Amino acid sequence: MSKPMNKKEPSYVVRPPTAVLTRGFDPALSLGSARPAVFRASTYVFASPEAAERAFAIALGKQPPPPGERGDLIYSRLSHPNAEILEDQIVPLEKGARAAAVFNSGMAAISTIFLSFCAPGWSVVQTRPVYGGTQHMFNTLLRPLGIAIASVGAGDGPGLDKAIAAARNLRVIYLETPANPTLMMVDIKAAVAAARRHPDNPLVVVDNTFLGPCFQHPLELGVDLVVYSATKYLNGFSDMIAGVVQSKNAQRIAESLVDHPAVRRVIYPSLFDDPEQIRIRDAQCDFPGGIMTLDLRGGRRAAFDFLRSLKILRDAVSLGGVESLACHPRTTTHSENSPEELEEAGITESLVRISIGVEDWRDLQRDIREALDAIG
Ligand SMILES: Cc1ncc(COP(=O)(O)O)c(C=O)c1O
Repeated sequence: MSKPMNKKEPSYVVRPPTAVLTRGFDPALSLGSARPAVFRASTYVFASPEAAERAFAIALGKQPPPPGERGDLIYSRLSHPNAEILEDQIVPLEKGARAAAVFNSGMAAISTIFLSFCAPGWSVVQTRPVYGGTQHMFNTLLRPLGIAIASVGAGDGPGLDKAIAAARNLRVIYLETPANPTLMMVDIKAAVAAARRHPDNPLVVVDNTFLGPCFQHPLELGVDLVVYSATKYLNGFSDMIAGVVQSKNAQRIAESLVDHPAVRRVIYPSLFDDPEQIRIRDAQCDFPGGIMTLDLRGGRRAAFDFLRSLKILRDAVSLGGVESLACHPRTTTHSENSPEELEEAGITESLVRISIGVEDWRDLQRDIREALDAIG
């Protein structure tokens, strides 16, 4: 915030778990409230016409803010106290971060990256699959704008190297790892090295939604921007702490399902069998995370039967929350992909994506097993 920060700030650098609870928030600016108040104003009053002029000059990048401060608040679409507090507190969570910008949704953050950095004539290299909404934006917004997009299967290291080297006017290399919903991993360090060899010095952007800042640290591997759907694991402090529990829950359940006769394959990082995927996982992930994808025997019918039979897990399309959710990506989150894109990414009729929450893992395991047993 533009006003003086908490007067009682320690003189030493506090550790990240302390910083995420204390940075950016001055109780004096919330009538002494121990936690930030929710500011609902759409617009903010200036101290003087000169202050208004200065606030606009700072917001438009014509003038830098005074050291250690931000410009005065103007209007909530541009910024507001709760966004500024969140931005300050996300920085210590994300290893290697210098600043954060908060948006109204993950898709708003992702589209802003492309609309800010790409112009007609520039090109993008993406790994696939990516979240369906992101692919939809590439296909229906960026391509018609004249931005060329080359895509390479996640995990195909030599293919990615080749696509990057071959790209002209390359502006952004966009990686989603692990990928939604196949959990295929991309070697972030290798992609950064390929980017640095390219004469256009493209930005490397990682969508780190699936593992979150606790389990994977792309900035430390050299990427330029990390993007999140904060709707997911980043959503709220208690969800962050719950993240570790979610990974343990998911790992126990995933590993217990491999022998179920209704399951062709459990896709989960601790169960990877491809040596390259195992190498990438071990090199860049701290924990396997809270999401698994089941490849069921019996195609769409089996997947729908399974979803219909769940009693604790809910059939809904989000992930990374405290509650457990399951969905059929092919007909929902990824339904806007073309048949070829679905085919290439391995998003088949028999896949069900599951986000494991913080309920007791034994209840979730029972619910999933009973729903698998119920497949006709
Ligand atoms: C990997 C990934 N990135 C981005 C998004 C988009 O985020 P939001 O729904 O917050 O716009 C999603 C949503 O499911 C996602 O799974």
